[in-house]
Amino acid sequence: MVGGQMSNCIVESPPLKTSTHPLDLNWIRAQFPSLSQNVKGHPAAFLDGPGGTQVPQRVIDAISDYLRTSNANTCGAYTTSRQTDQVIAGARAAMADFLGCDADEVVFGPNMTSLTFAISRAIGRESGPGDEILLTHLDHDANISPWRALEERGVKIQFADIHQEDCSLDLEDLTSKITSRTKLVAVGYASNAVGTINDVKTIVRLAHEAGALTYIDAVHYAPHGPIDVRELDCDFLACSTYKFFGPHMGVLCGKREHLARLTPYKIRANTEAVPQRWEWGTLNHECIAGITTCVEYLAELGQRSEQVSDRRQAIQAAYRAIQMHEHILMKKMLRGLSEIRGLRLYGINSPRSRCPTFAVRIETHTPLELATRLGERGIFTWDGNYYAINLTERLGVEKDGGFLRIGFVHYNTEEEVDRVLDALSGDLDR
Ligand SMILES: Cc1ncc(COP(=O)(O)O)c(C=O)c1O
Repeated sequence: MVGGQMSNCIVESPPLKTSTHPLDLNWIRAQFPSLSQNVKGHPAAFLDGPGGTQVPQRVIDAISDYLRTSNANTCGAYTTSRQTDQVIAGARAAMADFLGCDADEVVFGPNMTSLTFAISRAIGRESGPGDEILLTHLDHDANISPWRALEERGVKIQFADIHQEDCSLDLEDLTSKITSRTKLVAVGYASNAVGTINDVKTIVRLAHEAGALTYIDAVHYAPHGPIDVRELDCDFLACSTYKFFGPHMGVLCGKREHLARLTPYKIRANTEAVPQRWEWGTLNHECIAGITTCVEYLAELGQRSEQVSDRRQAIQAAYRAIQMHEHILMKKMLRGLSEIRGLRLYGINSPRSRCPTFAVRIETHTPLELATRLGERGIFTWDGNYYAINLTERLGVEKDGGFLRIGFVHYNTEEEVDRVLDALSGDLDR
């Protein structure tokens, strides 16, 4: 059986944090073995979280323990198969605590993109001319192309614009495009390119008032803030565990009524049970085992900072602490970036309504040159459009290499902020 199997109640009580800093960074960084690596004599600074985060040792252990002790297909009449069924059920319960839904509303898949195609194709079956789908220019293409695919059925695609000066969503424009023809509004919780956090709850309300469904891409938001699908009242919400300290998997939460009513494209042998009717073929069981421990890592983090009684509360406590720490990183980073000559920040210039994901350009270097120079100093960042192609096109930077993206998560430190600022303000060609 995979170690550390979940229960909804946390039994052990690790010590509460007593220092004034919101997070015990020593404990946190000790959980992640990859963070201690060196690159060409420099400590590795993982500022590439928006592309995928590092994983705690317990996630690595859970994956290998599963393969060592429980490796089997599901629903067989023997021990390891039954253990596998339990591993999957446990991960569903863990993700239900993470998202604030019921376990039978949690669907596993290879990644967010394929889960989104699964839902868009099912919605496409009942869509046609006269129907509209509203998307945004801020979104990752995984929340755009699956919906644009329905144009071949005669569905009209609308786009909500952004305020170009700070890359926030133009809510007025969005509101004006929600009409009685709108079948679905698909919007990101947070932008993986520029860090904007959207007022998703309001958008869901506006969509529902017009009778439209809502599909929330929470991939970029998930490492930064707590998710409560009941509070949002969204119809679907998708995320990827590899962006919040877990293995490479996607997770979809759908309201039970939709998961039961919509018709998936699936093979006959696949069950009609909810939610398994949305999971086709054999899943990645070892990664599913890792998902539970990734959620338990977050719960332990929360439990170390607040006295809490169950896993859901512990996860919420973790995000309170994470957000306080990320706020410190954001303030420092925004101040530092504003002092670098020739640097332009794309995005909100204050720590409010954003997460610590920074898109910048510097006059003298392309984003690829910047990422390469930083990489040589052990600082891992990204360049390009990160699939937020509508945004880079809208801002006119697509043809010039997009942005340099510097992304922080809770395991990053103030020293790492200083390092990247120093590197960007110094002679990059040295
Ligand atoms: C905001 C956002 N949405 C969707 C995706 C796609 O996720 P996946 O790789 O799980 O398909 C990404 C991946 O970078 C992302 O950042």
